[in-house]
Formats: sequence, structure tokens, C-alpha cells
Amino acid sequence: MKNKILVTGGAGYIGTHTCIALHESGYEIVIYDNLSNSSYEAINRVSNLIGQSIEFIEGDIRDAGKLKEIFNLHEFFGVIHFAGLKAVGESVAKPLMYYDNNVSGTITLLAVMAEFGVKNLVFSSSATVYGDPETLPINETSPRSATNPYGQSKLTVEHVLEDLAAADKEWSLITLRYFNPVGAHESGQIGEDPSDIPNNLMPFISQVAVGRRDKLSIFGNDYPTIDGTGVRDYIHVTDLAQGHVAALDHLQQQTHAAGFLPINLGTGRGSSVLELVNAFSKVNKIDIPYQFAARRAGDIASCYASADKAQELLGWQAKLSITNMCEDTWRWQSMNPDGYNTK
Ligand code: NAD
Ligand code: WQD
Repeated sequence: MKNKILVTGGAGYIGTHTCIALHESGYEIVIYDNLSNSSYEAINRVSNLIGQSIEFIEGDIRDAGKLKEIFNLHEFFGVIHFAGLKAVGESVAKPLMYYDNNVSGTITLLAVMAEFGVKNLVFSSSATVYGDPETLPINETSPRSATNPYGQSKLTVEHVLEDLAAADKEWSLITLRYFNPVGAHESGQIGEDPSDIPNNLMPFISQVAVGRRDKLSIFGNDYPTIDGTGVRDYIHVTDLAQGHVAALDHLQQQTHAAGFLPINLGTGRGSSVLELVNAFSKVNKIDIPYQFAARRAGDIASCYASADKAQELLGWQAKLSITNMCEDTWRWQSMNPDGYNTK
């Protein structure tokens, strides 16, 4: 059976963790990444962790010529497509950059896949496609909407994938909607390495813990939640990585193409900002100074997944706890106070 996988964006945060999980499950990997938000050092560390050098090609998903060269050289079973830009605020300021990278880039990739008859894709979508959810937990049939260009770019790609699946029944297009990925590999060797001031909560907390930032601003304490702060479904990146292995295993076992198949990857449990801050302090025995600030534009009160479909279809469920997420984040951050520091 063919088990070679092209991993676009494989040098990034979720990609590096997934490459390790894929290797451990017997998949062969080729990473394709333009290093716009990652580094050679991340790839070196993955090679060290798996004990062999990983095949890496530097390139952009919008470069059809380069993609074709790679598809000519390798016989892929499928593609895991992480490559994309993900900063919500930046997407508001630079919408064309986001649509070009995330939408045009994906269309270029799909066209090359079609040309070479590789029709298995696992796409990185996001809980952001559910906008401000009407009911909780969110399941895969919940209404979709976008509140910013980043979210719109993910939703647009989902529509492209749906239309493609309708037009050609040979495609399997598993669309994984991640909730809030946090944590790091248990070794402390790889983790999330924001190149600027972190937008996301967990990297901000860990940079306060390591002394790179003075204090955390908690955006809003008047939401209709357990303690007034925003509630999210935090999921350990190692569990997320296993979700990708489960998705590929599912495709390997199918006798018929899956079509467009959206699946939530979350734990099914929500935690508030204060709960996460307090858990981090308690688990790692570090005080995290914080202040309450105004709500952040575009934020919603609560968001958490129904993870039933992933369990039923893929036999996957998240195993790691908030304690694991806090411990592993801190191990990575304290062992690498400046991240990979090679950008
Ligand atoms: P990341 O920035 O760490 O990884 C993305 C990788 O893609 C980077 O290594 C970057 O260099 C590469 N890349 C970007 N544009 C490219 C292009 N045009 N050609 C080739 N490579 C390119 O981000 P991540 O957190 O690992 O996210 C991976 C995917 O998951 C993204 O598509 C993101 O939108 C999606 N996602 C992330 C989160 C999250 O909170 N981290 C949540 C939901 C969805
Ligand atoms: C979580 C909670 C904030 C920072 C974003 C994207 C989403 C997805 C995941 C890619 C909220 C609060 C945060 C801070 C805070 N990414 N917060 N102080 O907003 O749920 O989702 O990342 O697809 O598309 O929108 O995650 O980590 O930014 O925020 O109080 O300094 O923490 O208000 O309640 P979010 P987050």
C-alpha cells in the first residue's frame, strides 16, 4: 500500500508534531514549506526526534511548477495541507495576502494533485468557520460564517472542496476543524514559536511565565460564562497530530472515496481564560500576573466542540488534559526561551 504523504506547511507548529506522529505510525513524509513562519531548526529537531533525516523541500504552494516537480519524483498516497497564514488581525489588515496564500495556494495545490491523480487530502480548517455559534457544543452541521478574512479564507476553501467533491467522486477531502491547539511535544524540543507578540492565549501566558512579557491582558470579564472570561476548547497538539494519523488511516481503509468530510478535532470541553491561567500557575508553580482589559473585537463568549463524529468515524478522541497542555507548554518554553531563535 502507498504510504508516502506530502505535508505542506510541515515545518510549522502543528505540522512538526504531525510529522512525528506520522513517522511513528509508519508513514513516509515529504515536507513542503516556504518557511514564511517556520525555520530549518524546526525541521532539524524533527529529524533528531525521529532519528533520521526528514525529506524537506523549500517551496511555496502557489508555485505549480515546483509542486509538479515533486509529484513527478514521488508517488504520494495523499497530502496533508497545513500551509497557510493564520493571524486574524493581520488578515484584516492584509486581506489580499490571506486570500492569495490560503485560497489561491490551495487551488494551485488541488490542480496539481488532480493532474497527478492524487485525490486524498487532509485539510487544516478551523472552528473559526462556525463564526459565533448559536448552540453548543458545535457539531459539523452547525451553521458556518466568517467574521474576518482569515476565517473567510478557510470557509472559502471548504466551499471549493465541497464543489470539487460534488464534481468528481474520486476525491476524499477530509476537512479537520481544529478548536484551540496548545501544548508542545513531551520532549520539549518542538513547540509553538510565534515570531511576533503572540495573538493567542497560551503562548502569551508562557511568554509571561518566562519573563518575555510583564503581564497578560485578559480580554473581557463580562461574558456570560462561568467567570466572565471567554471559554474555548483547548486541545493538545499531540492529540491533534494523532487526529491526522487517524484521518489518513481512515482513508487507507476506505473502498470508496469519502467526498467532502468535515470533522471537528476538539476535546468537547470548554475552559475559561481564568481557568487556563490558574491551571498553568498551579501546574508549573509560576505566578502569571494579569489585568482585565476590554473585550477584543471579534471575540465570542464560548466555543467548544462536539467530538462525537471523530470518535465514531475515525476512532479518535483527545486523551491529554489541561494539566498536560500546561506542563508541556512550559517545558518547551523554559527549555527554549527564545523559541527556535533562527528566524
Ligand atoms: P504555522 O504558521 O506554524 O504553520 C504553517 C506553515 O505553513 C508554516 O511553516 C509556514 O512557513 C507555511 N506556509 C505558509 N504559507 C505557505 C505557502 N504559501 N507555501 C508553503 N508553505 C507555507 O501554523 P500552525 O499553527 O501549524 O497551523 C497550521 C494550519 O492549521 C494552518 O493552515 C492554520 O490556519 C490551521 N489552523 C491553526 C490553528 C491554530 O490555532 N494554530 C487553528 C485552526 C487551524
Ligand atoms: C482564546 C481566549 C481571548 C489572548 C484564534 C483564532 C482561531 C483559531 C485559534 C486558527 C479568548 C483570550 C487571548 C490574550 C486573552 N486559529 N485572550 N488575552 O480567539 O479562540 O481563536 O486561534 O484557525 O481562528 O481566532 O484563540 O488563543 O486568541 O483566545 O484574554 O492575550 O483567550 O479573548 O477568549 P481564539 P486565542
